[in-house]
Amino acid sequence: MSSEELYEARKEFFNERAENWLDMWYKDQETGKYDRYEKEFQRLFSLVPIKDGDHVLDVGCGSGVLVPYILERILDNGVLYELDYAEKMIEVNKRLHNDKRIKFLVSDIVDVPLESGSCDLVLCFSCFPHFQEKGQAMRAMARMLKKGGWLSVAHFDSSEELNNHHRKTSGPVMHDKLPDKKAMKRLFVNSGLKTEKFIDESGFYLILGQLI
Ligand SMILES: C[S@@+](CC[C@H](N)C(=O)[O-])C[C@H]1O[C@@H](n2cnc3c(N)ncnc32)[C@H](O)[C@@H]1O
Repeated sequence: MSSEELYEARKEFFNERAENWLDMWYKDQETGKYDRYEKEFQRLFSLVPIKDGDHVLDVGCGSGVLVPYILERILDNGVLYELDYAEKMIEVNKRLHNDKRIKFLVSDIVDVPLESGSCDLVLCFSCFPHFQEKGQAMRAMARMLKKGGWLSVAHFDSSEELNNHHRKTSGPVMHDKLPDKKAMKRLFVNSGLKTEKFIDESGFYLILGQLI
């Protein structure tokens, strides 16, 4: 498969799963509530700097699992950009979240239709391994930040658990990998980001950096 074919196949993979994404990953099958990872979300948002009035970009947002956590923190003056290249993910996200603070964007991260320096915080939750050109994607995310702004790449798995999980699938995401610590820190440095936190443990991964 050529890299263009792989890119399209991966996008289709996410489009096909859009309707059921939240049920598949975030629903507690016993209670029916979407709180399977509530503890992890609280931990993530206790570590990531986010405040009243922030402009936040949620990259690879899918159907919007982060939306309530972000809106609750940016309050009335904040702006939330929900960006995903899979148009069906954005369709579902829009249907679920009707709030004037949200701007929905169907776009690849490398072509973000926003001015450079638009954001206080870029959240890349559960999607970095899927970027085909990781250096380009990292630079694009850093470009969206104001000076002193923050970038967070996070997962609710360790890097090893996550890479094993993708390896066990048979579809177009099977070779998608989260780079190791040294490579991630290099990607941060090359995009002008200073690493402030690095956590890679069972059930939780976070690399947080600030644009200097
Ligand atoms: C594993 S899903 C996670 C979705 C959401 N963050 C969540 O946790 O529910 C990865 C998401 O990243 C999106 N994505 C992958 N590559 C992308 C790219 N190059 N540009 C924009 N979105 C991308 C996919 O369409 C998909 O919705």
